[in-house]
Amino acid sequence: MRLSLRFVIPLLITLGILAYAVVPLVDKLTLRWSMHDLDIRATLIANTIQEPLQDQAESIQPKKLLSLFKRVTDDERVYALGYCAGNAATMLATPSMPKTISCTDLDQFRTTGGTVLNGERGLLHVAIRSLSTGINSSGNLVLIHDMSFIERRSAESKIYVFYFFAGLALIVSILTVIIAQLSWRGWMQGIRSLMRGEGLLRQPGASIHVPELRPIARDLQRLVADLESEHRSRDESQISWTPESLRTILHGELSGKDVIVVSNREPYIHQHTGARIEVQRPASGLVTALEPIMRACSGIWIAHGGGSADRDTVDQHDRVAVPPDNPAYQLRRIWLTKEEEAGYYYGFANEGLWPLCHIAHVRPTFRSSDWAHYVTVNQKFADAVVKEAKTIDPVVLVQDYHLALVPRMLREKLPDATIITFWHIPWPNPESFAICPWREEIVAGLLGSSILGFHTQFHCNNFVDTVDRFMEARVDREALGVTLGGKKTLIRRYPISIDWPPEKALMAKPAEQCRQDIREQHSLPINQFIGIGVDRLDYTKGIIERFRAVERLYELKPEWIGRFTFIQIAAPTRSSIFEYKSHEELVIQTAAQINERFGGHGAPAIILKVEHHEPWQVYEHYRAAELCFVSSLHDGMNLVAKEFVAAREDQRGVLVLSQFTGAARELPEALTVNPYDADQCAAALHVALTMPLTEQRDRMRLMRGLVSEFNVYRWAGRMLLDAATMRRRIHLVEKSESLTISKGVGRSND
Ligand code: F6P
Repeated sequence: MRLSLRFVIPLLITLGILAYAVVPLVDKLTLRWSMHDLDIRATLIANTIQEPLQDQAESIQPKKLLSLFKRVTDDERVYALGYCAGNAATMLATPSMPKTISCTDLDQFRTTGGTVLNGERGLLHVAIRSLSTGINSSGNLVLIHDMSFIERRSAESKIYVFYFFAGLALIVSILTVIIAQLSWRGWMQGIRSLMRGEGLLRQPGASIHVPELRPIARDLQRLVADLESEHRSRDESQISWTPESLRTILHGELSGKDVIVVSNREPYIHQHTGARIEVQRPASGLVTALEPIMRACSGIWIAHGGGSADRDTVDQHDRVAVPPDNPAYQLRRIWLTKEEEAGYYYGFANEGLWPLCHIAHVRPTFRSSDWAHYVTVNQKFADAVVKEAKTIDPVVLVQDYHLALVPRMLREKLPDATIITFWHIPWPNPESFAICPWREEIVAGLLGSSILGFHTQFHCNNFVDTVDRFMEARVDREALGVTLGGKKTLIRRYPISIDWPPEKALMAKPAEQCRQDIREQHSLPINQFIGIGVDRLDYTKGIIERFRAVERLYELKPEWIGRFTFIQIAAPTRSSIFEYKSHEELVIQTAAQINERFGGHGAPAIILKVEHHEPWQVYEHYRAAELCFVSSLHDGMNLVAKEFVAAREDQRGVLVLSQFTGAARELPEALTVNPYDADQCAAALHVALTMPLTEQRDRMRLMRGLVSEFNVYRWAGRMLLDAATMRRRIHLVEKSESLTISKGVGRSND
């Protein structure tokens, strides 16, 4: 109703103004027409009187003439009649003739159409007509009409005009209200559906009840999608992605909402080493990617405090400001019992989900006791997020397979939060995922997210297929969205990346100096060729396959024996899991075997360093090597590949990269290999070691261009931009819904 009034009130005002302008016009016209009438009547009367006057041509008989005049003035509109004969000064007139009119000043009334005079009882119309009464005689007839009937007629006209406009206003208002109601209802339904991205056209009649709106809706939907993608790609490519641009997006597009990151692994681990406390940076792609984001955006990072000195370094709220040397954000630690850590982290996450999602031929193990811990710990993380949220609608970035249930748990407590979940590992096909006894719970948990991100489109598609197979959810394959319980989750590809340019401290030592220092450090000849591998000691990384490829190189190209050494940095990881322990043993054993066969020529074939390395040490190795070998059997992205490229600002070095990494899709200038094919890998190593510097430079330049352009700020920025768009859409839908509700209230008041 309120909406209709918005149309009707201006309409009524307009009609009122129109009526106000029309009334004087009608008045004027009525007067003009009436005067014209009177003038014609005057001529008619004069013609009628002329005859009897001619009969009295020689001598006017006043009595007879007056009686004639009297008869004429019986007409209610004729007020007075008079006659001025020849040059006579006296007028022969009925008694009603106004005193102001005399035979001597008739000329002033001789105007076309007559003259209006103010009489004692109102307006009078004066007309003078010349009459010839004989051959040589003539006179002037003075005709006075009463104009009061014109005033009456004018007043009547005004009433008619008023009724006419009032009727018009009423009809137009009713029609306007009806049309407005019908179109508004239809439009709002259409727009709401569009906002929700519902398939208006795929489900005829489901969302739009006004059939004529469908073509418009189709065009509108297409237009919105085009504009959005154009806007995004334009924005994306036009932005130079830096910490600053990320901050701008956060403040501009998300009005400075607080950002909460939640992950299992913490970015800084405090460890007791003797009497001292040391800070460690974990070997984690997740930390590598998110740490620069948090430095840029501030906010809070919630993670498991797993370091031996972690409890000694937090405040009373379990928080510590990091990075320790230049604090930029808060790290909030979550404490887990030994049992919780064993069940949730080692058990369900790393013995269950990890092998389930990586096709690396290690059987997943699922235990109900692990699942119970997984649920409890996820709830712990979700509660901490709720506690740390400063607003009802924070932006929460949930990380990885450890916390699959957190998005739904959060959605229940913070329905207005924007929850962006990123799954850092591959998502398998539905058949493989079906192995998990809690597959529905995991998927439903993830669908609490506003946006769910994967590294590759292939993983997005696998996830959507999984939902389609196991859930009672609506899957929109075109827009890649899933709606569960009325709540929509967008499924999007966001290839993760690294900080660009790398921290200055990591690149401080010149590449040439790194070459010398690393060879010296490992007691290698100064001209020794070096290959480098950097991984957690994880069976998915293909370290055994890598070593076998080096062995095959020596077999196929013996000229490299003694001239080429492969250095493997292997960070200990998940050591309490049997598979990891036995894998570690196998790696050590394999390296030893190969060294036994090919190492006795002045330099070892393989140098294996199973220990933690700080980022600066890793970069020193990258910058010293001729090649970097990434041979993952299955990897979501693999940031080692990108780090190697970033470290080589000297544009030297060759990347040998497994085709089973997400990175291989982005870095085609690497030498792409199948890690299961030892001969192919050995050939690639040989090509890398003999590649001319110019070709190394050309390949490296292209790869550096890509990593610099698609850096980690772009990864996070795209997610935040999408989240901002989503928030705007939701607000629009809510606005339109509140309009509908208030319309409903108005109706009941009516
Ligand atoms: O690759 C998956 C992942 O969770 C990464 O995100 C992270 O870099 C790595 O595993 C570290 O694993 P963890 O935290 O168990 O040491």
